[in-house]
Amino acid sequence: MKGVPGHLAVIMDGNGRWAAKRARPRWMGHARGAQTARELVAHCARLGVQHLTLYAFSSDNWKRPREEVGFLMDLFASHLERQLAELRANGIRLSIIGRRDRLPPALVAKMEEVEARTAQGTRMHLRVAIDYSSKAALQEAFARAQAEGQEWPADPLLPNVDLLLRTGGERRLSDFLLWECAYAELAFVDALFPDLTTADLDAVFADFAKRDRRFGGLNSAPVPVGNAARFSERRPGGRTEASTSPDHHAGPAAAAPARPDSRADSRASPPPP
Ligand code: FPP
Repeated sequence: MKGVPGHLAVIMDGNGRWAAKRARPRWMGHARGAQTARELVAHCARLGVQHLTLYAFSSDNWKRPREEVGFLMDLFASHLERQLAELRANGIRLSIIGRRDRLPPALVAKMEEVEARTAQGTRMHLRVAIDYSSKAALQEAFARAQAEGQEWPADPLLPNVDLLLRTGGERRLSDFLLWECAYAELAFVDALFPDLTTADLDAVFADFAKRDRRFGGLNSAPVPVGNAARFSERRPGGRTEASTSPDHHAGPAAAAPARPDSRADSRASPPPP
């Protein structure tokens, strides 16, 4: 499909409001959101998105009630468990970004298992951000670079974002991929995340395809479908993307089609006691 972003980043906002509109507890919105996330992943893989990064839990989300946080941690673990076979079947590599030291050990073990068992996937690299703060990631990266005598950090920065989508009607980046979103196109949709459909996503991509991306120049830059260069590639002496993320240029043609979506086969687990 023309105009598909190489790297799509999504702030999945609106789960709580989706539940409130139905006079349901917030956890139901998150559970429904997890189903939408599953459909989003499958659709992006089908369309040829190479990198998809989802903001599942920000480092500021620890401020939420203990029950909600506990439910989300359980949901992440069960979601990873349920998704594993589908990710492998569709050639999708999953990585988790963010701090791990504050997460429940059982979740960390599940994350590591799914990362290891999907590591061979070359069709799409899915990153899920859990306990993630972009500012913290940048602070760490700059501190590490300084300790290594480098001017600029190479890790843990991701490929540049081509398109950042936020659902739920708010128009802000929060603390998500601040460095990587330089020159990203922005898309904000009013749909609450659980209501986001594949047709909504197609409309967002169609709009993205019309954008004139000049990257500070005067003419549209000849950016290959798949991504703009990372900043490290543009800096004299910078490390290249290929040196830090070998799958960056992996194309969509490398794998089998994604399985059809279904909301019916896995519903919410009950809330924590
Ligand atoms: C923001 O909506 C959403 C979250 C903090 C949780 C996101 C989690 C999921 C979508 C489910 C799990 C997904 C994966 C990929 C593991 P909000 O609660 O702030 O909504 P509100 O603004 O309406 O209150």
